[in-house]
Amino acid sequence: MKTLLELTRVGIEFNTPKGAFRALRDVDLKINQGEYISLIGHSGCGKSTVLNIVAGLLQATEGGVVLNGKEVNEPGPERAVVFQNHSLLPWLTAYENVELAVKQVFKGKKSKADMKAWIEHNLELVHMTHAMHKRPDEISGGMKQRVGIARALAMEPDVLLMDEPFGALDALTRAHLQDSLMEIQKDLNNTVIMITHDVDEAVLLSDRIVMMTNGPAATIGEILDIELERPRNRIQLADDPQYNHYRHQVLSFLYEKQKKADESPDKSQASAQDKSIGTDSVARDKRAQKIA
Ligand SMILES: Nc1ncnc2c1ncn2[C@@H]1O[C@H](COP(=O)(O)OP(=O)(O)OP(=O)(O)O)[C@@H](O)[C@H]1O
Ligand SMILES: [Mg+2]
Repeated sequence: MKTLLELTRVGIEFNTPKGAFRALRDVDLKINQGEYISLIGHSGCGKSTVLNIVAGLLQATEGGVVLNGKEVNEPGPERAVVFQNHSLLPWLTAYENVELAVKQVFKGKKSKADMKAWIEHNLELVHMTHAMHKRPDEISGGMKQRVGIARALAMEPDVLLMDEPFGALDALTRAHLQDSLMEIQKDLNNTVIMITHDVDEAVLLSDRIVMMTNGPAATIGEILDIELERPRNRIQLADDPQYNHYRHQVLSFLYEKQKKADESPDKSQASAQDKSIGTDSVARDKRAQKIA
């Protein structure tokens, strides 16, 4: 298979008031065209940093990223990003938010009529045609997230980068969007890197799960190949021994091999942020407790 994206010996050091902070070291990863990769690891280990380096929003201190034979040094429309907090422009409708990105990529290449059809097509993929003329404050969180995904897909990116795209959604909306994304990916064969805190989500969606060690100086600990047939059905997989084996592998990496630093007496590595990793329900319950 063809390598589309290659991270070679990527490392990064941040300058902080307390001196240099080494967040990542020696991150090596080759991703093939059409692969769905999940990045999982404890809070603060460096997942978003990896994604931001691939997006071109951060510069690696060592090593580099090559996409389609070209070194990545800045953001580009061939790498669309879906952020966790959907980042739509509040004064534009769902349609206009997608239009903005489409114009950026296809101006001079598609006619006005073709652009309109393309915007509508992408909103249809995420089942948003009924509300496409509403503004972000008039639609739900799940719907905003769907518009964000439509906007990213409409750019026809070589790589879709998603930072916890479903993290803030309720379980039903999340399941629905995961299923839509699997369908879309089957049709379009997108290459995807998705950060998640959710073990079930990682196993259900991924071709490979990249598990990161705890920081500082985090790197890739293990990579798990998920050889489950597609299309995948969450209900059938719940009783599938192979699915449960994969789940167990990821849980054991996170909770045995990479116990979170602040679970041990030495809290020196603990990150400022604290988000729980777990299965759908565990993570949700913990989040709910924190909010309460
Ligand atoms: N601009 C920055 N300056 C200094 N330190 C930073 C900067 N960005 C990130 N870090 C640190 O680098 C480490 C990795 O951060 P990152 O946001 O990539 O973690 P993460 O794995 O995405 O965490 P989470 O799951 O909580 O989103 C953390 O210790 C963080 O505090
Ligand atoms: Mg992050």
